[in-house]
Amino acid sequence: MKVKKLHVFLLSIILSLAICLPLLGFRLTTAFASTDVDVDNSASFSTDVIYQIMTDRFCDGDSSNNPTGAIYDNNQWGSSSRNNRLYHGGDWRGIINKIQDGYLTGLGVTALWISSPVENISLLDPADNSETWTSTSYHGYWAKDYFRTNPYFGTMNEFQELIDVAHANNIKIVIDFAPNHTSTTSNFDETWNTSRYPLDGALYRDGELLGTVHTDAENNYFNHEGWIEDWDSLESIQYQTMYGLADLNHMNPTIDQYMKDAADLWLDMGVDGIRVDAVKHMSFGWQKNWVSNIYENHSTFVFGEWFSGGIVPDSDMSYFANESGMSLLDFNFANATRNAIGSLSGTMYDVHNSIEGTAANFEQVNNQVTFIDNHDMSRFMTLANNSSSSVDTAYVLQLTQRGVPAIYYGSEQYLTGSADPDNRKDMPSFNKTTNAYKIISKLAPMRKSNPALAYGTYTSRWINNDVYVYERQFGDSVVLVAINRNTSSSYDITNLFTNLPAGTYQDALGGLKNGSPLTVMAGGSVPHYKLGAGVCAVWAYNAASESSPIIGSVDPLMGIVGNKVTITGRGFGNSVGTVAFGTANASVVDWSDSRITVIVPNVKAGRYAVTVTNSKGVESGAYPNFKVLTNSQVAYRFIVNNATTSWGQSVYLVGGVSELGNWTPTLAIGPMYNHTSSIAEYPTWFFDVSVPANTKIEFKYVKIDGSGNVVWESGANHIVETDSTNGQITVNWQN
Ligand code: NOJ
Ligand code: NOJ
Repeated sequence: MKVKKLHVFLLSIILSLAICLPLLGFRLTTAFASTDVDVDNSASFSTDVIYQIMTDRFCDGDSSNNPTGAIYDNNQWGSSSRNNRLYHGGDWRGIINKIQDGYLTGLGVTALWISSPVENISLLDPADNSETWTSTSYHGYWAKDYFRTNPYFGTMNEFQELIDVAHANNIKIVIDFAPNHTSTTSNFDETWNTSRYPLDGALYRDGELLGTVHTDAENNYFNHEGWIEDWDSLESIQYQTMYGLADLNHMNPTIDQYMKDAADLWLDMGVDGIRVDAVKHMSFGWQKNWVSNIYENHSTFVFGEWFSGGIVPDSDMSYFANESGMSLLDFNFANATRNAIGSLSGTMYDVHNSIEGTAANFEQVNNQVTFIDNHDMSRFMTLANNSSSSVDTAYVLQLTQRGVPAIYYGSEQYLTGSADPDNRKDMPSFNKTTNAYKIISKLAPMRKSNPALAYGTYTSRWINNDVYVYERQFGDSVVLVAINRNTSSSYDITNLFTNLPAGTYQDALGGLKNGSPLTVMAGGSVPHYKLGAGVCAVWAYNAASESSPIIGSVDPLMGIVGNKVTITGRGFGNSVGTVAFGTANASVVDWSDSRITVIVPNVKAGRYAVTVTNSKGVESGAYPNFKVLTNSQVAYRFIVNNATTSWGQSVYLVGGVSELGNWTPTLAIGPMYNHTSSIAEYPTWFFDVSVPANTKIEFKYVKIDGSGNVVWESGANHIVETDSTNGQITVNWQN
């Protein structure tokens, strides 16, 4: 549990309460937090702006920890002759320096997402897709020991110092974490070659070797299925190997426990959030079990990388977003924004359609992490044909839209680069006067101060191919945004309506994108307004208070009885009221006007609406879809033999616990898989599922076709008694 900052003026109250509260298991120090401007709330990132740092490329604060030899490029920092596949020397000391010298605090970001801190391989490696170049683990995605630090980034003590310095400056720390795979190994279809892959994916636990891919016959720590053959098949990408990266078998109880313990190690140090690499490449069931375990011990924000090339989520992505307990990186928003403002291959309608399409499919949109570029795609500046003005426009859009914005280091300095690794160049400068820096530093703090940005609804108010005027609203707080991506044409905005109260509003950007004041008449009509070429403006009304409670976010939205859950919003009042999950009242850990922490009450597993009632008896609207799990989760591999199907049918699993859909076929788990030779091939089917630990579960398999017709197994229900570690159950289909 991390050490929270005490407010000195409250010390006497705290001391008097300190005598009784610990007996009740209350966490003292957050009990009096009254604003969102601190790092006590690691469960919810709704009011935060994340800054994504590739640690090796941001700032070299300590040259003594730089690698030596062939994996290090010792050309000067920032020099164009540097090889972007080698280590460059950036480290945690450098990040600490940039917090302390005011670059990051001045930018207004309140969370840093840094490269995976764990020890990686330290060799030259012919990885990536081609075997013609050598590469290194500078990016942090080639782990070796998840219990030790990457020595080129720093020591454990320095990592702790980074967290402490960040927290002292109201900045949260998010780590990248890649549990899918360790490092490179050879393709199993090829001859094993120790001169090329000398570590063979070796996994260590705090210095002790657990195993390697080619010595795994007894351990079964890795999947041995060759390289991914079908990138459109979840089964293929989950059980086969991504670019030859040694694919961990998470169902193995040793690996499962390893990943739970590793997450706990970093979170215990005070890490506030985890960005999970490649969530599409790991089974849904294992991940849900892993995340649920994390939430039992930590209030933390977990978001996954579900790569998507589209502008609206597909059903698999939506299922993951709604059922896994994790938020996702919002690739759909990124793609739509990049098309509309970057490459100009799309229009503003695409952004609108992306926002609406995601809202239609995701149960929670304010907690998805938005971005306009990252380390796996071209820099926005390059995409936009070197138009810094387009970069600025994209940031205005991103920082005022729903979701938690993540800013990729260096794009605020208009860094260029078209693809990995050229989109990962050294931070070129720490210039606080770029227009992008100034725009971010105006808008980022507004996400704390104006709840319309963090939690508000979204309404499109005026749109054409170039112009996008939209509104966010939460309670009485309203923000209206106008964007013209066209740098040569202005537009006459007529018949515009807004919920901003009547009055005249200054542009909250202070004219950084040439915006001018806006006048709103009684009834919300806006007199004819000319939106100049390339102009962006933001007009905001921030209500001083709300008379009735409004919930902005519930985090996390999944948990077991007894877990801690954070509710943020406005108007909760300063006296303690009640919070209910359905009709069951939750015990309150702490309460302020904008944030409440409660314990999940003792209710049956299922979905619940959360409501807040203030001390005067006024109840909020319902915040739906909190998922109470049966109890602690483990992952089980369910295998069914002899399940022959006709064309269009697939096999699903359904059973007598909430995790298995409570006997409701539309909530059945699947479609199950049947293509993985070492596990199951048709007519045998398998699926890895998160189920309650130490529980007797009745279940059956069903065949469901594309029209939803259900064929049940006959006979008695199958029964599995789960353990407290991962397991497996195999049965025959009962005709
Ligand atoms: C996605 C990461 O963002 C990418 O950079 C990495 O190479 C792969 N996952 C594999 O870890
Ligand atoms: C309904 C199914 O038809 C049956 O096969 C199953 O045994 C029960 N649900 C379990 O209660």
